Amino acid sequence: MRRETIRGRAATAAVLGLSLLVAPAMAEQGGGFEKHVVSAQEGNAADVGRDVLRAGGNAIDAAVATALAMAVTVPEAGNIGGGGFIVAFLPETKKVVTLDFREAAPGSGTPRMYLAADGKLLPRYRAGAWAGGVPGTVRGLGMAHAKWGRLPWRVLVAPAVKLAREGFAVSDELARGLNNQLRPSGDKQRARSAFGRMADFPESVAAFGKPDGAPWKGGDRLVQADLADTLERIAAEGPDEFYIGETSDLIAAWMLENGGRITKKDLADYRPKERPPVHTTFHGYDVFGMGPAASGGIVLCQMLNILERYDLKADGPRHPRTLHRVTEAMRRAYFTRATRIGDPDYVDVPVAELTSKAAADELAKTIDDARATPSADLAPFPIIKAESDHTTHFSVMDDQGGAVAMTYTLEDSYGSKAVVKGAGFILNNEMGDFNLRPGRTDDAGAIGTYPNQIAPGKRMLSSMCPTLVFKDGKVRMVAGSPGGRTIPNTTLWVVLNVLEFGMDAQAAVDAPRTHHQWFPDVISLEGESWPGETVKALTDMGHRVRTIGHQGTANSIVVDPASGRLFGAPDMRRTTSKASGD
Ligand code: DON
Repeated sequence: MRRETIRGRAATAAVLGLSLLVAPAMAEQGGGFEKHVVSAQEGNAADVGRDVLRAGGNAIDAAVATALAMAVTVPEAGNIGGGGFIVAFLPETKKVVTLDFREAAPGSGTPRMYLAADGKLLPRYRAGAWAGGVPGTVRGLGMAHAKWGRLPWRVLVAPAVKLAREGFAVSDELARGLNNQLRPSGDKQRARSAFGRMADFPESVAAFGKPDGAPWKGGDRLVQADLADTLERIAAEGPDEFYIGETSDLIAAWMLENGGRITKKDLADYRPKERPPVHTTFHGYDVFGMGPAASGGIVLCQMLNILERYDLKADGPRHPRTLHRVTEAMRRAYFTRATRIGDPDYVDVPVAELTSKAAADELAKTIDDARATPSADLAPFPIIKAESDHTTHFSVMDDQGGAVAMTYTLEDSYGSKAVVKGAGFILNNEMGDFNLRPGRTDDAGAIGTYPNQIAPGKRMLSSMCPTLVFKDGKVRMVAGSPGGRTIPNTTLWVVLNVLEFGMDAQAAVDAPRTHHQWFPDVISLEGESWPGETVKALTDMGHRVRTIGHQGTANSIVVDPASGRLFGAPDMRRTTSKASGD
């Protein structure tokens, strides 16, 4: 893992399509940025955001432009065909606002739509036109911009158009990802895998194959002409174009051709929603997160509330007792997630109760400080014995103290793997985030509880966890991560590493993380560097332990309370990450 920030890349005012004063990018130089910063998974997009801030845009403008740029430069997760969440601080009103632009089930959605007659899951939940929820990103970004942005919409879309039209140099990482997707899966492999690959969809091969058919190499240029046209229409006609304009016609026609469920009406009816933030305190800090249809905010607040009673700092972050306590907090909060949270427009989610100190006190009573609690003991219903990354998060701060934490996704890497014919973008496969097998909760992690079953227009439960932390009314941290169900736990570790263990921004992001999600009942330790005695101590307490590779990509910002300087901490678990600022 590289610790240093990628610094001093040339300013990309040209990409922006604006005439800006091109100041040399100020290096972070270990001293943080003075004015503003964008910490994101991809350098071109981080630079686009920084250039918007230079041009007088606020954090919302920068987030919108960064997200649209990543729809071009991070095709595996950046998107206009998916959905996500924004948690933002508006310095003018001193308010935290949150926006839910999660995808929604089509109007014809039913709880058992992905089940065969014998109860088995049909592969179509995973790839192709059937796998997608109604995308939320474009109207989501449009609503954020209309309510809280400053610069004209088309100025914010322009850099993305330019990146798609003129192309950009692909990184080694992107080249590897694309080559993997474009490798034809043999029939045997296709039969075995529900996942599918882009190679299975001719439109995807046309959009993302190298023109001469050769494998991609780092440094090659990826041009996306159809996507550039789509973005140009969205720039000229506004966000509604995607939902009621030519793009909606393209989506509906492609759905019909491929047996998909999303209709023109589903698209026209889709609305992003402003929701109340969830909130708790932790040792005098205020933590604000995303409420349902994301579970991340509730899960993070509940874990922090449970952990506040311990002096974790005295033991340190890698001590077995700390890991045990953190795991027991995770186990209980993920049980809450599995049983209580769903789209709040469809199920009653008692957010205030779930994030209260009293609820944490009750949950903590069941924790044995020396023994693991078997996960099955938490459930008042039987757990069945089971037979078996991609999203992106970025953080922005502007020179007025404004902040945006934004996470958005296509669900799997490259979503449904299917590009909408003529429109150049990949459709999400978010429908798989619903509880697809009603009544079936198993010890491998499948959840079949009621709150997150499919209904027409309902939003599938997300783990996304964009988070803002405040001290005395000022932003202290902007955090969040991709990583599916690991997301709230990755965010927890970054927050704990700063607030509890006193790490600096980059150390907090670099430090190894752990994960427990109720079921499977096992602790995942990130990385190879865990001492045998730590693993033994945990095993002796009754935990099952395994080590895993990388957990999340938590591109974060930490404000130094003394100097007010902004420390962008890109997560170098993805080598393309960058903090770009002045
Ligand atoms: O919303 C969710 O919780 C998932 N669709 C996120 C998927 C994800 O983070 C995958 N990758 N890193």
